[in-house]
Formats: sequence, C-alpha cells, structure tokens
Amino acid sequence: MATDTDPDTQLIENYQPFFREDLLKDKVALITGGATGIGFTIAEVFMRHGCDTIIASRKIEKLQKAAKALEAGTGRKCLTVVMDVRKPQEVIQGVEKMMSEFGKIDILVNNAAGNFLCPASSLSFNAFKTVIEIDTMGTFNVTKAVYDKAMQEKGGVIINISATLHYKGTALQTHAASAKAAIDAMTKVMAVEWGPQGIRINCIAPGPIDNTEGVRRLAGPLKDKVNGVIPLRRMGSREEIGNCALYLASGASSYVTGSVIVTDGGHWLNDPRASSKL
Ligand code: HXC
Ligand code: NAP
Repeated sequence: MATDTDPDTQLIENYQPFFREDLLKDKVALITGGATGIGFTIAEVFMRHGCDTIIASRKIEKLQKAAKALEAGTGRKCLTVVMDVRKPQEVIQGVEKMMSEFGKIDILVNNAAGNFLCPASSLSFNAFKTVIEIDTMGTFNVTKAVYDKAMQEKGGVIINISATLHYKGTALQTHAASAKAAIDAMTKVMAVEWGPQGIRINCIAPGPIDNTEGVRRLAGPLKDKVNGVIPLRRMGSREEIGNCALYLASGASSYVTGSVIVTDGGHWLNDPRASSKL
C-alpha cells in the first residue's frame, strides 16, 4: 500500500512475503541511514516480519517522517536516533539510548553512506576523507559500539551494505570504491574474530537499485541505458535488497558468515562488448 509520494519513504506496494511472517518476531534491528532509500525498505521488510527497528542518521525531520510511515505501514515500533556515524561519541550515546529503550540489539545493518561522481584528479583531500569517514569509519564506529554494548555478550547478526564498484576500476569512484573495499575486508576479519561469540557478519553488494539516491546521483540521465547492460535487463528494487537482508538477518542463513552476497542482476560480471555479440 503506497501512502506517500516522497520516493524515499514509499512503502512497498502489495508486498508478497517469501518467508514466514514471524521470522524476526520480537527481534530488534538498528539500521543506519534507515530514513531513506534502501535502508528505509530494509527496515520495512524487517518490521513486516515482526521486528522492531531503530533508524539512525543525521536529520531528525527525515527520521521522524520515516518512522511514522514505517509504524503506520507495519504496526511495529520504530525508534529514531540522531547520530553522525563519523562521530564515535555520538554513536556511543546513540547506542546507549537504544539499549535503554529495548535492552538489546539483535541485528545491525550498516547502510549509511555518502557518494558522488568525481574523477580522482578533481577529488579534494577532504572529499576523499569524507566518504571514507562516512562509509568505512562509520561502519566500524557503529559496529564497535554495538559489539561493546549489545552483541559481545548475546551474539547477533551484522549486515554491511557494500557495492561492486571495487571489483573493477569503476571510473569516478575512487572514494566510494576504496571505502567499500575496506568494508568487505572488515567483514571477513570480524566474521573470523567474532564467530565464536555467536556473531555472524555478512555484506550485501547491491548493483543499481531503482528509486534510490544512489542511482539518482550516479546514473542520473543515463538511467535508461543502465538496464541494457544488466543481464537481468532491469535495475533491482529496494524490496529485493530488503529480502536479501531478511535472509541474512534470519536463521535461514545460520551457517553463513564472512560472505558478500552480490545482488546486482549479474551487472558487474557483464562485458557489454562481448555480450552484444550474443
Ligand atoms: C566533488 C564533492 C562533491 C561532488 C561534495 N564534495 N560533493 N566533491 N564532487 N559532487 C566535497 C566537498 O567539496 C568537500 O570537500 C567534501 O566533499 C565534503 O563535502 P561536504 O558537503 O562538506 O560534506 P558533508 O556535508 O559531510 O556531506 C557528505 C556528502 C553528501 C557525501 C558530500 O553528499 C551527503 O551527505 N551524502 C549522503 C547521501 C548520499 O550520498 N547518498 C548516496 C549514497 S549512494 P572540500 O575540499 O571542498 O572541503 C552510494 C552508491 C554506491 O553510496 C554505489 C552505487 C552503484
Ligand atoms: P541514501 O538514501 O542516500 O541513503 C544513505 C543514508 O545514509 C541517508 O539516509 C543518510 O541520511 C545517511 N547518512 C549519510 N551520511 C551519514 C552520516 N554521516 N551519519 C549518519 N547517517 C548518514 O542512498 P541509497 O541509494 O539508499 O544507499 C543506501 C546504501 O546502499 C549505501 O550504503 C550505498 O552505498 C549502498 N548502495 C546503493 C546502491 C544504489 O543503487 N542505490 C548501489 C550499491 C550500493 P542523512 O543524510 O539524513 O544523514
């Protein structure tokens, strides 16, 4: 049921669950950047499966609007926490607030990110640093705070949102490709270190996902051409990333850790020059 014309906070129309609707019953999930785009829909899919959520980012108005839409659409609780993932003290205080409200965090989705198109030759020192700080250090900061205060004792599931930019030399993406490569590396190391404590940690690497800020910024006017270079001949949907996150958050993936699930319709594998001869 779509109730909003703002693309960021549009609920899924006619959601068809593939999994049991109580799959995440009474779990608590923190989704950074959960007020918009992919993060919003991950929160929605989790909530449709019985989960309460916390969405955290920098802008209170966006958070409140999103939480209202999510609660109305799913009947579950959504707490908002203002925090800049680059600032460890804000993150620690935010996680303390979450713990005092819910007493636990079962699932963490590190989804907050920043990006823009820019060639390395024009990228300022501060521009590179900014994206590394949001994506890579932000992922570390939130993960560390949640580990210390919630998951160290009780275990849990962590899902990092990565990308496929660094599998090839994606032009204009030095900053984001470097940031996401580091997130993939962090995922593997933490999976090894924290597996014995009952913590699973995986990545989702989305390809171009329709109706998102990422595609508006990166594909822009070329959006229509993108479909032609994707083997499945379409962009992914936010719902498809939500369903992938649901699988990773649930017991359905209980033996999966340290993995990157590429969810891109075959996009990065394709060599359009070769496949055009098919
Ligand atoms: C070059 C740019 C730039 C641009 C900013 N900068 N935009 N450089 N091209 N388009 C530079 C600035 O000049 C500045 O450097 C430095 O970056 C920091 O900019 P600020 O505006 O001060 O930073 P801040 O307010 O912290 O904002 C961070 C941001 C912003 C990343 C720049 O765009 C943001 O808040 N983004 C969040 C939302 C977002 O990006 N969503 C898309 C995620 S999609 P100087 O040297 O001048 O000080 C995604 C897709 C991945 O990640 C893969 C898709 C396939
Ligand atoms: P989006 O809507 O812009 O989501 C990014 C979110 O991060 C926003 O809600 C933003 O909220 C938050 N954020 C940014 N900087 C922050 C900070 N310093 N502290 C806290 N929160 C911050 O973009 P999206 O397209 O849905 O992307 C979501 C994720 O998917 C990102 O990790 C992105 O790299 C990844 N991804 C997207 C695509 C795609 O096609 N869209 C492809 C591959 C990977 P505020 O600005 O209010 O803080």
